[in-house]
Amino acid sequence: MVIEKNTNPKINQINFNEIQFGEIFSDHMFVCDYKNNKWNTPKIVPYQDLLISPSANGLHYGQAVFEGMKAYKDAKNKIWLFRPKENWARLNKSCERLEISLIPENIFIDGIKTLVSIDSKWVQPGKGNSLYIRPFVFANQNCIQASPSKEFKFLIICTPAKSYYNEEQDFNVLIAEKYSRAASGGVGYAKAAGNYAASFYPTKLAQNKGFDQIIWTDANSHQYIEEAGTMNIFVRINNSLITSPTNDRILDGITRKSIIQIAKDKGINVEIRPIKVKELIDSFNDGTLKELFGAGTAVVVCPITSFGYKEKKYKLPFIKESYANILKDALTSIQYNSTKDPHNWRVSVE
Ligand SMILES: Cc1ncc(COP(=O)(O)O)c(C=O)c1O
Repeated sequence: MVIEKNTNPKINQINFNEIQFGEIFSDHMFVCDYKNNKWNTPKIVPYQDLLISPSANGLHYGQAVFEGMKAYKDAKNKIWLFRPKENWARLNKSCERLEISLIPENIFIDGIKTLVSIDSKWVQPGKGNSLYIRPFVFANQNCIQASPSKEFKFLIICTPAKSYYNEEQDFNVLIAEKYSRAASGGVGYAKAAGNYAASFYPTKLAQNKGFDQIIWTDANSHQYIEEAGTMNIFVRINNSLITSPTNDRILDGITRKSIIQIAKDKGINVEIRPIKVKELIDSFNDGTLKELFGAGTAVVVCPITSFGYKEKKYKLPFIKESYANILKDALTSIQYNSTKDPHNWRVSVE
């Protein structure tokens, strides 16, 4: 790997209390080009603009995928990644679906470790603080034929993050009746850039109605709940925790699978099965619906305080000792190295 250090770093000018997520980037970035049928020597260089041709095919056909993960600092200032191999595997699943050349494991893992190590001061200590890592790949051949690119650019950039949502905050979601995030046979299970673009318009319509996000339902019938915005969804009915099985419409979330494991470790009954909107409404009406929450890297766990469906609003009761809080606490304790890691999920950055 070629490393060119930033001679004009901005880390000392950053007020970490005032940053907005995703607007400020660390001093370095990772770049690797796929050209001549191979991934070339990776580089870490100062964070900078890219020079792209207007005919770069990624700009035209959306042959682009990404990942999202975080680095955490423990009480002794040691830095940890969380299940990075899962992100690598999922990135390649996305690449395969979008006909992008697969990324070798060592390029992905060594790239992240070296970048985070160089920008280690950007990982702020304290629970809730982290450095969000954004690996992404896009088609970069100068050719506007609607066919797969022969050249790609793989980059990794980092942005400091605090907790996205305030725990006291209301989080109101609208159950989708018309729009879909993904369809069977499509690309919902991939982190394809276009999935997110396609979700913006229906999300804006929901926000115009006073909701924060959409609960996506299956595209065929709109009868089954599948994801909450850009999070996987969990429902607690009585003392059972239920989440939809992953399929080709649903992103196989790393937070989701970690929460399922932690819940099982704690003796919570976990059911992985399709959940009907009707079951949600019925269990709300008979008082057995206790909790609803989203799970994803950005917020870890996001309790849903109310949901809307067919012009009606359903407000969930406040619950003490919620599964959402118990599971969030258990998961973040592993991520921040303040507890044992029975499944070897933590990976240190030296
Ligand atoms: C559509 C969607 N679902 C679920 C998730 C949660 O995945 P993870 O827990 O790996 O962050 C994400 C975030 O990456 C997402 O974009």
